[in-house]
Amino acid sequence: MRDEKYVLATGDTAIERLKVVEATHGPDTQAFLKRAGLREGMHVADIGCGVGIVSQWIASQVGSSGSVVGVDASAEQVQTATQLARQAGITNLRFHAASAYATGLPYGTFDMVFCRFLLMHLAHPEKALREMVALLKPAGVLAVEDGDFTAAFCWPPSHAYERCFELYRAAGAQQGADFTIGRKLFSLVCELGLHSVQVNLAQPIFAEGPQKLLPGWTIEEAAENLIAAGLASREEIEELCRQLRRLAGDKTVVFGMARMMQVWGTKQVV
Ligand SMILES: C[S@@+](CC[C@H](N)C(=O)[O-])C[C@H]1O[C@@H](n2cnc3c(N)ncnc32)[C@H](O)[C@@H]1O
Repeated sequence: MRDEKYVLATGDTAIERLKVVEATHGPDTQAFLKRAGLREGMHVADIGCGVGIVSQWIASQVGSSGSVVGVDASAEQVQTATQLARQAGITNLRFHAASAYATGLPYGTFDMVFCRFLLMHLAHPEKALREMVALLKPAGVLAVEDGDFTAAFCWPPSHAYERCFELYRAAGAQQGADFTIGRKLFSLVCELGLHSVQVNLAQPIFAEGPQKLLPGWTIEEAAENLIAAGLASREEIEELCRQLRRLAGDKTVVFGMARMMQVWGTKQVV
């Protein structure tokens, strides 16, 4: 169901990292979704929703007259997402374990279909995009965003930071994922035949805060895969993590995070 070699942790271990991902990219995602037309009363699907942090925010925007379905291939993520939403008392949001390639959701029934940080993990992103368009009502909006991890930068320059992103990209490439997909997203969406396709770029930057821990955590989580693939030794990863922790605590150093391409367009009325 899930792309078998998804490189990051899932379930409880992923929650803290995904909350920091939200603190990093959430403000840009929220501005993007508003620009794409998210509003009260909409029925929205969030594909590859993880533990449902963005899904919860979308649920708060569509209100009780709208609804949100979060879909993830990991049953563990779906279970955690369901628990978190229940704890937060959210009633217009449910989660469903399924592949992005075949969600099992009813076609032609959603006002908006969204995904973030999903397509980069997929061997066949265009297949998942076609499934998302099929889920939309006529005149429904596809809103997708994903990262270009070649655009991440540290200033002053740091070998550890460069190497961290190099390793992450290499791990992805070896598993058929594409960590540069953020550059290609507009073209991929244009091929779907949507109406008025629009595009925006967003790149968060931080001098301090938990967001600066994200690159090191990501490498730590991917460590076993990197070692098994022969891309790095345990010693190298430990040293990289030490250096990244030091840079994260240095408020004179800025971390430019993954650059996100945000693309949205409307399904043609036939
Ligand atoms: C990096 S997380 C992103 C979570 C969330 N969208 C966010 O931006 O915070 C990627 C998610 O995609 C899910 N995933 C990976 N391959 C998938 C597939 N083929 N179908 C559906 N979900 C998939 C993973 O289980 C994971 O929860």
